[in-house]
Amino acid sequence: MIVCFCNALKEKEVRGAVRGGAHSPQKVYSKLGCKFQCGQCRPLAQRIINNETATAC
Ligand code: FES
Repeated sequence: MIVCFCNALKEKEVRGAVRGGAHSPQKVYSKLGCKFQCGQCRPLAQRIINNETATAC
């Protein structure tokens, strides 16, 4: 699933960045070498981060 259309980020990449220690949307995008543009994906990115951190325990 595509999370961010502006940066063509896939859910798998976002989850990988969270597992790599990025626990905020800004840190995830930075780790993936991009940044927010339109910002519409921010709520979805945050939900994925929350889900990934909740299941990591
Ligand atoms: S959809 Fe992610 S910044 Fe636009």
